[in-house]
Amino acid sequence: MQIRRCSALLIEPRESVAFDLDSLLAGGNGLSANIELLALAPHLLSEVAISTVEADALSIIGATSWTPFDALAEKFDAALLHALLQKGLLISDDERHAENRERDEKLRAANWHPHSAVSHYFGRWKGVTSGESTDRAGYKSSAELAERLGASPPHVHARVPAEQRITLPETANTSMDELLAQRVTCRNFDTTRQLPLATFSRLLWRVFGAQAAVEMVKDHILIKRTSPSGGGLHPTEAYLLVQRVEGITPGLYHYHPIDHALEPLDAPDGDLHALANTFVAAQNYYADAHVQVVLVSRFERTFWKYRNHSKAYRVCLLDAGHLSQTLYISATEFGLGAFITAAMNEVDVEQALGLDPLLESPVAICGFGIRSSEFATIEFDPQQAIWSAEQSATVGIPAATTQNSNSQLSKESDS
Ligand SMILES: Cc1cc2nc3c(=O)[nH]c(=O)nc-3n(C[C@H](O)[C@H](O)[C@H](O)COP(=O)(O)O)c2cc1C
Repeated sequence: MQIRRCSALLIEPRESVAFDLDSLLAGGNGLSANIELLALAPHLLSEVAISTVEADALSIIGATSWTPFDALAEKFDAALLHALLQKGLLISDDERHAENRERDEKLRAANWHPHSAVSHYFGRWKGVTSGESTDRAGYKSSAELAERLGASPPHVHARVPAEQRITLPETANTSMDELLAQRVTCRNFDTTRQLPLATFSRLLWRVFGAQAAVEMVKDHILIKRTSPSGGGLHPTEAYLLVQRVEGITPGLYHYHPIDHALEPLDAPDGDLHALANTFVAAQNYYADAHVQVVLVSRFERTFWKYRNHSKAYRVCLLDAGHLSQTLYISATEFGLGAFITAAMNEVDVEQALGLDPLLESPVAICGFGIRSSEFATIEFDPQQAIWSAEQSATVGIPAATTQNSNSQLSKESDS
């Protein structure tokens, strides 16, 4: 049997602090700290506790070339090697360890930078309800937030005294400024109305559609979207959870950007609204959206060019951010509300959509739909683009301290 180490591995000395009566009785602070070593290897999808002896062995055994088991057993205890094989941190060419080997090879073939792979995989959630974690942290309202955390870092970072600032001229608003001023993250969707099919179709086409496709060289096609993309590779796929669109059966879909078509997917059994709620970690106001758009990054597409690159994962995240803003602005133009969240249960989403997280995984969830006329959940609208000052006050938003319009010239030219 030939052995090597798994290809991506970080070892974390994790400290946990617990109440300790003995320490208290001995006049101490009543706390005891414990450090355990955890192996974070993304091909395993969950962290593994290891001993210091195992950590020593893992820091010596290489990941690139195979070594016969017997040769390693001269240096390390055979039982230790077997334990590490069992844990999946050592890889072998033996059939018994085929599953871990295949996953490790898949991770390596996808050209992940190891730090990014660890950061992504171990940041994923399953079955988390974000509201409960906020409750546990003890800050549901802004007042509780300030009480628990103290003052926030300043809202503006001034680098020179006011008199040294070079004030820029006021300029005229254009229709783009008017549109941007209307963009307010929506947490109040109308669950009684259907979104018109034409609006849905135009929105998807504008944000996610391939406006053109170019075969740069044989078998390397780039698509053009209305948003920029690192390397022009557009790794972000749009998966849709549709609840209320005229003529579209509620369910899960993948959007095909060249055919401008929906690809129906099998939805898990059960209530679609409940699934939408699970996706967004029980932020139920987002579960009400007519359409949720799961932005799934096909990492291997970007990593094909930027191999084992420390910036490549960041590029994928930025990609999703750009698409989200185009979605927000487009929805706003059509008089709709839109949102984005990173508080999502990636593992549940992957299972529902049939994604292998070593290759493709959600990086954000957006959504859009018809706004409700009722202001039940807080929105940040200090310019009263959607809600009146009185409505904002009812959900606890104070009046704005500053209203920058910078629209002097536009006012003059209007007159
Ligand atoms: C990356 C990102 C993640 C966000 N996540 C959440 C979220 O989990 N829940 C939520 O209610 N809003 C979320 N938001 C929306 C922000 O709360 C919102 O943008 C902010 O309050 C400012 O309001 P505005 O978008 O109306 O200007 C997120 C926004 C961004 C850009």
